[in-house]
Amino acid sequence: MSSGASVNPEGGSAQHAGDTGLRRCRENDTGGSARHAGDTCPEWTASARDHPGFSGRDDSGPRLRIVVGVTGGIAAYKAVFLVRGFVLDGHDVHVVPTAAALRFVGLPTWEAISRNPVNTDPFDDVAEVRHVALGQSADLIVIAPATANSLAKLATGLADDLLGTTVLASEAPLVIAPAMHREMWENAATQANIATLRARGHTVVGPGDGQLTGDDRGVGRMSEPTEIAAAALAVVVASTGRRTRSADLAGARTRSADLVGQRILITAGGTREPLDPVRFFGNRSSGRQGVALAEAAIERGGEVVFIAANLEVPEPGGCDIHRVSTAAELREATLAAAGTARIVIMAAAVADYRPVTVSETKIKKQGDASLTLTFVANPDILAELGHSSHPGTVLVGFAAETEPEDAQLLRVARAKQEAKGADILVVNRVGWDTGFGDADNEVVVLGAAGRVLTSTNGSKMSVAHAILDAVLAHDTPT
Ligand SMILES: Cc1cc2nc3c(=O)[nH]c(=O)nc-3n(C[C@H](O)[C@H](O)[C@H](O)COP(=O)(O)O)c2cc1C
Repeated sequence: MSSGASVNPEGGSAQHAGDTGLRRCRENDTGGSARHAGDTCPEWTASARDHPGFSGRDDSGPRLRIVVGVTGGIAAYKAVFLVRGFVLDGHDVHVVPTAAALRFVGLPTWEAISRNPVNTDPFDDVAEVRHVALGQSADLIVIAPATANSLAKLATGLADDLLGTTVLASEAPLVIAPAMHREMWENAATQANIATLRARGHTVVGPGDGQLTGDDRGVGRMSEPTEIAAAALAVVVASTGRRTRSADLAGARTRSADLVGQRILITAGGTREPLDPVRFFGNRSSGRQGVALAEAAIERGGEVVFIAANLEVPEPGGCDIHRVSTAAELREATLAAAGTARIVIMAAAVADYRPVTVSETKIKKQGDASLTLTFVANPDILAELGHSSHPGTVLVGFAAETEPEDAQLLRVARAKQEAKGADILVVNRVGWDTGFGDADNEVVVLGAAGRVLTSTNGSKMSVAHAILDAVLAHDTPT
């Protein structure tokens, strides 16, 4: 498995060649039919093949009235591409920047790119009741980037600017793409605000993990515009029961919504088997790939049931979460949910063994004497599911192996797939310095009879989409 990594325009996470959501467009190839003079593709546009957030369709398709709220973070410049993509897809886009956002990107840019007047003050044009009119007329509100400050205001319901009144006056789906430094994102106040917004049913996209504004890296980077657009459109499609003013949503079903109506069970993280009240036997799985799979499935409209085993990363939003710790708990939660799932993805690293006995008190050091622990095999959950009849369900297993040679790695993976009865097996190499906890991943996806369906590397989000593509292309077993 070779690494064909390339760096994206923001200097962020490396992605596989041909696997990026954005590509530099050819001149005059902006995909929209309503271009005006001077509109000759000076920027990045979407690759519909990989991240179909922007379809580049013509004006005959559905047309949504989209409010894009922009708040005051560096990532405001990336929101220009989000607005641009929506406009080129034929949507009617109204940008509502906060005062701080205008210190990063100026009003003329928003007006030119959105092709609509931009207002920032609820006291402008009072006769038009603008403070509520935009929100009432919206089919969708997307806030990108969403600062920590704005998350707090949204969670509290503050309405001291036009974006605040617009959101409060709207019944449209709200999609929020946070962006900030890792410390701000992980701060308990921000996490509590995010939890509040998710509990209200709003969709939170990202933030991703990668290069931040300074020298630092970590979680906090705004998701790419194409990912935000795909998630936003999937949310609109999934909420067709809700009021829409201008959309013929049937036509809005793109690949970005190819999991609508499907239930996907995903396990993530690593189990911990207790030795005594203070120690456990565990593994180094962070849960990052499993979380990316959940976020990708949600973006594509899926109904995700997520079983989280000791995650080291924030949980995904917009799904049903069950927290477990041991293999036995993970087994119980998985078996309870698997029956109703169309796709079961077993991404969690489950301990093969657990201590025979768990001490009720801390095991004390006995001088220089050695300590011998005896382990017993845990139930093999993947094999249990694989060898039970699972008509209509695609079972996806993961194999994290240490074999240094590709051929040997595939041999081990194929043997494992057969032994477990998994319809699909995702294999990746792990080692002292690779695999667990990394922002990127490199995998081979095996289908029926161990055939290679795809191999890919890049950010865990792009790998997640590639895995879902392979799963959906796979014939459902009967
Ligand atoms: C250079 C610079 C970059 C900033 N980037 C961010 C950011 O990425 N995320 C964030 O939450 N706040 C960021 N801030 C702080 C916000 O701009 C500040 O909290 C502001 O009050 C947000 O206002 P708003 O939420 O109304 O837009 C940044 C500030 C400066 C000066």
